[in-house]
Amino acid sequence: MTLHTQDPIKLSLMHKEETLPGVVQILFVAYEETKKSSSRSKKKMTSNKRVLVSGCSSELSRFVQSESEGEQIEGQSKEVQFYRNHNGVGHLMILGLGDVSNIDCEVLRRSIGHGIKLLGLQKIERAAVLFDSLAPYFKQKDEAMMALCESIALASYNFDALKSSKSSQKRKKLSHVTVVATKSQDKKIKEAFEQGKILGEAANITRFLGDSPGNKMTPTILGEMAQKISKGTPLKVSLWDRARIQKEKMGAFLGVAQGSDQPPRMIVLEYKGTAASKKPICFVGKGLTFDSGGISLKPSTSMEEMKYDMCGGGAVIGAMWAIAKMRLKVNAIAFVPATENMPGPRATKPGDVFVARNGKCVEVNNTDAEGRLILADALTYASEQKPAMIVDAATLTGAMSIALGNIYTGYFTRDEKLNGKIEKAANRSGEKIWRMPLSDEHVEDIKGTFGDLSNMSSQRGAGSSTAAAFLEQFVGKEVPWAHFDIAGTAWNVSNRVPYCSKGASGVMVRTFVELARDLG
Ligand code: BES
Ligand code: ZN
Ligand code: ZN
Repeated sequence: MTLHTQDPIKLSLMHKEETLPGVVQILFVAYEETKKSSSRSKKKMTSNKRVLVSGCSSELSRFVQSESEGEQIEGQSKEVQFYRNHNGVGHLMILGLGDVSNIDCEVLRRSIGHGIKLLGLQKIERAAVLFDSLAPYFKQKDEAMMALCESIALASYNFDALKSSKSSQKRKKLSHVTVVATKSQDKKIKEAFEQGKILGEAANITRFLGDSPGNKMTPTILGEMAQKISKGTPLKVSLWDRARIQKEKMGAFLGVAQGSDQPPRMIVLEYKGTAASKKPICFVGKGLTFDSGGISLKPSTSMEEMKYDMCGGGAVIGAMWAIAKMRLKVNAIAFVPATENMPGPRATKPGDVFVARNGKCVEVNNTDAEGRLILADALTYASEQKPAMIVDAATLTGAMSIALGNIYTGYFTRDEKLNGKIEKAANRSGEKIWRMPLSDEHVEDIKGTFGDLSNMSSQRGAGSSTAAAFLEQFVGKEVPWAHFDIAGTAWNVSNRVPYCSKGASGVMVRTFVELARDLG
């Protein structure tokens, strides 16, 4: 059985006046809190909450007002009210945005996330979002449109490619959402609609790659998938086999791959959106399609989660797809070293030493610290492309999820200028990131005893920083570089982010696209 990426939800944009019979209309409401000093005592303040509704027909507005008087509608964030075939209003979903003074794009993403989840449970196939009901709360209407579209796409994703059509778990899905906006013909609004749709779809491609199990997403299949999704886009995909990887002297990468029966691949995606003389942005993503730990075998508890160890690779593939779809005016190249980490008869033994592409000798003292080895050679190769910057994403260390949990992605860079760009990009994407320390002390900790470097720190703590310090040894001196450790945020975030279901999150796709946009 071969996997097929899932059909994206159909999203369309249209003008207010068209009628939509039999479709669930989604209306946003908020509340405003007014404080008054009470007449008896000047010191005592009483607060009054008023439900706000706008951008809809007078019937709908009256309905909301009457329901809010009976406190059936409060406008709270997380609030979802569903009226099926209700007298006079038809199928209606009310979504709360909370306190009007706190509304931003993330509030909107979460609100629509709650709504879409409920539509899924109710087996509703079509909905229409009344954009005018939320637009008044945003200065930048286009940003709201983009956030809305990406979160509709994200919230409606569901991995059911491996549920047989007979399975009762194969649910009827929300398949078509129309965004109804008076300004649907406005150039900026239209563009934001398209961009949000692409960003959501791109993250869903990443999620699909991550959710696919190791036996259905081998390095070979991952490469083929990259080719498949690139069809019809200006992306050029090259797949290097073992012989080519050997020719490129990628000894650290090959050392990891040698324990598996599945051949490795270096997946290279190229996009040319501007003059060839312009330096490219290079992406590197960890493509470990299954990490058993190798001879330093992982404990069996939760080992199944290690199918997600290619989420960094998946993120850069998704980001490249979006960059190409948007025709951004940049040059971009992505490298995804893809392999399994298995304890086969030829597997690396603890203590083995490998020579990496840049000539450094690496002692492998723990075969489970394999991500840094495959990334090392990819980073060296990326540095040779004389890029404007390199950013990598990897589910690199368990220590990262201990440090930051599943909310913030930790990132490392010593380049202040690049750091500014990263903060700006994450601000736009809404993805939460946190800068982590990387210093010369961390570099000391990964010095080797028998080789130049060890893939294990000599110290107990700061495992994510020492892993970053290891990667740094393979990046060209003059190249601005940042490393994103997504071990805590690449999956299982549904308890935090209502627009994400269980499974892969597609984290960093949106931030990476924003980084590329900034370069263009
Ligand atoms: N893929 C893992 C990191 C990981 C662990 C990601 C748990 C998500 C959840 C990585 O290859 C690994 O095993 N790293 C080791 C490094 C250690 C041996 C220095 C780790 O974090 O334990
Ligand atoms: Zn590992
Ligand atoms: Zn790993």
